[in-house]
Amino acid sequence: MLTESFWQRFIPFRKAAPAKQDTCFWQVDIHSHLLPDLDDGVNSLEETLICLKQLADWGIHKVVTTPHVSRDWYPNGTSTIQESLTAVQDLIIEHELPLTIEVAAEYLLDDFFMESLNKGDLLAFGEKRYLLIETGWSAPPFGLDDMIFRIQTHGYTPVLAHPERYKYYHADKDKPTLGHLREAGCLFQLNWMSLCGRYGSQVEKQARYLLQNAWVDFIGSDMHRSKDISTMTRLFNSADIKLLEEQPLLNMSLLTDVKQP
Ligand SMILES: [Fe+2]
Repeated sequence: MLTESFWQRFIPFRKAAPAKQDTCFWQVDIHSHLLPDLDDGVNSLEETLICLKQLADWGIHKVVTTPHVSRDWYPNGTSTIQESLTAVQDLIIEHELPLTIEVAAEYLLDDFFMESLNKGDLLAFGEKRYLLIETGWSAPPFGLDDMIFRIQTHGYTPVLAHPERYKYYHADKDKPTLGHLREAGCLFQLNWMSLCGRYGSQVEKQARYLLQNAWVDFIGSDMHRSKDISTMTRLFNSADIKLLEEQPLLNMSLLTDVKQP
């Protein structure tokens, strides 16, 4: 049970981010780091609760939270992630939050991932077995096309997390690489905060390019901690909301989707 002093610490913060019921018309968030101590996301269940309450207030009805998985930084196993979910589900029940939560992961495309893919030991979401993947920041992984193909042949649908954030695609004139990935069947997940200036002007520009091409299959918060809330609030007064409404977003399809093993 949270103490009164805990809530008092956050009362001014919550006043700065007033609830806007149903502002998030996409209703399902598919990218976040809300399981404490598994990665660089939230540090406590108290912080998880603040984030989930705010998402619910904005009209999110379902959260697929996605801890990082990589060999070098976050070698989280499937069972570790699943076990961490129980405490958060208890929290949701205890505080009667009007949303549900399930787990998947954000997989870095390294050799650890390829081993897990071959073993079938991955956490996907939705009927189409969407798999959230990310690539390194300095350069795309060698053989990306082949990895995408192998993901598909194992029965998953690849979803590239935040394609707008990879700098090596920013100078890609006319975006042939991103276009090629889409043609190969890789879906794109845009980060909400990319439209709020969180990662700089070049990322924001690239995010808008994706929107203008109707290349956004999913929007995700990529929320790491409660202080992200004030940044995320900026989206609601932005013209980008109109562009988001015009995307072929799949988020809402997950409300009725049955998760496949
Ligand atoms: Fe992430």
